[in-house]
Amino acid sequence: PPAPGGGKDDFLSCLTKAVPPRLLFAKSSPAYGSVWSSTVRNIKFLSDKTVKPLYIVTPTEPCHIQATVSCGRRHGMRLRVRSGGHDYEGLSYRSDKAEPFAVVDLSKMRKVRIDGKQATAWVDSGAQLGEIYYAVAKETPKLGFPAGVCATIGVGGHFSGGGFGMMLRKYGTAADLVVDAKVVDAEGRLLDRKAMGEDLFWAIRGGGGASFGIVVSWQVKLVPVPPTVTVFQIHRGVKDGAVDLVAKWQQVAPSLPEDLMIRILAMGQDALFEALFLGTCKDLLPLMNARFPELGMKQADCNEMSWIQSVPFIPLGKSATVKDLLNRTSNIRAFGKYKSDYVRDPIPRGVWEKIFGWLAKPGAGVMIMDPYGGRISAIDDDATPFPHRQGMLFNIQYVNYWFGEGAGAQPNQWSRDMYAFMEPYVTKNPRQAYVNYRDMDLGVNQVVGDVSTYESGKVWGEKYFKGNFERLARTKAKVDPTDFFRNEQSIPPLLK
Ligand code: FDA
Repeated sequence: PPAPGGGKDDFLSCLTKAVPPRLLFAKSSPAYGSVWSSTVRNIKFLSDKTVKPLYIVTPTEPCHIQATVSCGRRHGMRLRVRSGGHDYEGLSYRSDKAEPFAVVDLSKMRKVRIDGKQATAWVDSGAQLGEIYYAVAKETPKLGFPAGVCATIGVGGHFSGGGFGMMLRKYGTAADLVVDAKVVDAEGRLLDRKAMGEDLFWAIRGGGGASFGIVVSWQVKLVPVPPTVTVFQIHRGVKDGAVDLVAKWQQVAPSLPEDLMIRILAMGQDALFEALFLGTCKDLLPLMNARFPELGMKQADCNEMSWIQSVPFIPLGKSATVKDLLNRTSNIRAFGKYKSDYVRDPIPRGVWEKIFGWLAKPGAGVMIMDPYGGRISAIDDDATPFPHRQGMLFNIQYVNYWFGEGAGAQPNQWSRDMYAFMEPYVTKNPRQAYVNYRDMDLGVNQVVGDVSTYESGKVWGEKYFKGNFERLARTKAKVDPTDFFRNEQSIPPLLK
C-alpha cells in the first residue's frame, strides 16, 4: 500500500475525475476555513493547534462518497466523516495526532422523505434532528420520532451511537427504530441492509460512528404521538428540599408509566425537574399526585401543546418556535468537556448532599440525569450494540463548559475530580459510559503495524459497549480488516 498521505496529489487527481471541483476544498482554497469550521460545535477545537484535514469533500451524491473512499484507499488518504459535527472530542473533523487525512462532510446530503402511510422515513445522515422532527410533523401531527433534545445534532453520528431524548422511556433510542440503511463500505460499495448482512447492520445501530463505513441514509419507523402533550419545568433549590427530591426521583422516575419522562438538570444549588408527558395535564396531575407528590406539581406547572411544539420548547423555552428546528447555525458557542456515567443502584441521600456540595465548587458543571426504564430497558442488552438497558436506573451526563481559551483549567479539574468522587456510586466492571458522550479520558487506540489493537480498544470499548465490544471488533475484522476507517476511538478489528 502507498505511504499514508504520500499520494496526496494523486488522491486529489483521482478525486477530481469523479467529484465536481466545487465540492472539493484543499487547505489552499479560500472557502476551506469556513467549510471546516461550519459545524465545529466544541469551539476549543477552533484553535490553531488543532490538526485539520488536508482536504474536505462535500458530496451531494452517494457516488461521490464511493469515489472518495476508493481514491482514499488507493492513495493512502484516511477519511473522517462528519454529519452534524457534535462529537464532543471533535473526532469527525480533527485528529489528535499529526497525520494526513481528509474529511467527508455530509452537510449537503440531508433529505428527509416521509412515507406517512407506512409510518416510515428515509433520512440522509447530513440532516439534523430538527429537520426530521419538522418533516414528520408536517406530514401528520399523529406521528413523531424519538431522538436527541438538541435540534442541530446530525443524524449520522447520533443514530450511529444510539441517540436518545425525551421519549426514550416510551420508544427507546433512535437506533432501535432503524429498519434499513445505505452504507458505503471500505471497498467503496454502496450496500443496503440485505447486501451488508446482519452483523454490519447490527453494528451501525449503536456501535459508534466512523468504524465500519460511511452511512449515507437510514430508514426509520416513525412513532405515534397524541394530539396533546404536557411539559413541565419545575425548579427546586437545595433550600426547598432538592436533596430529598432527587433521592426520591431516582427510585420513582425509572418505574413511572412509559408516557412520562422526568429528567433532572442539576446546576449549582438548583435542580430542574423537566418532564414530557404524552397526554394531557388532566391525566398527568393525578399520576404525579400518586407517584411523586413530594415534587408539589400543580396545574399551573402544565404547559399543554402539540408534540412538535414541545420539541423546541424543552431546550429553548417558551419563545421558541417550530421553525427554529430548521435553524442549522447553533448559538452554543462554548468550550466544553463532557463525561458520562450509568447508575444501577439508588445513590444514598447523604451522597446526594455531597453531590450538591460538588456542584457549588468553582469550575462546577451541570449534571443532566435521564431516567431509563420502560422501552429503553426492555430491549435485550445485545439486541443492538447499545448495552445500557435492563435494570439501569439512569444516565448521568457531566457537562462542563467555559468561555474563552485558557478558562478551562478549573472546569477540567472539576470534571476529573467529580468523576473520581462518583466512582463508588455508579456501574462497575466496567464503569459504563455512553458512546455519544464521547470522552477520550476513557482510553484511545494504539496503532501497531498500521492496525488499531484490540487490547487498547477494549479499555474504552467495554465501557461503551460491554460484552458487545467483541462482536463489534469481529464485525470490523470482516468489513474493514485493514482498519481504513479509524480514529482515536474506532472499533479495532479482532483479527485471528
Ligand atoms: P459528528 O458529525 O461529529 O459525528 C460523530 C461521530 O460519528 C464521529 O466519529 C463521526 O466520524 C461519526 N459519523 C458521523 N457521521 C457518520 C456517518 N454518516 N457514517 C458513519 N459515521 C459517522 N446525544 C443524545 O443521545 N441525546 C441528546 O439529547 C444529545 N444532546 C446533545 C446536545 C449537544 C449540544 C451536543 C453537542 C451533543 C448532544 N448529544 C446528544 C450527543 C450527540 O448525540 C453525539 O455527539 C452525536 O454523535 C453527534 O452526531 P453528529 O453527526 O452531529 O456528530
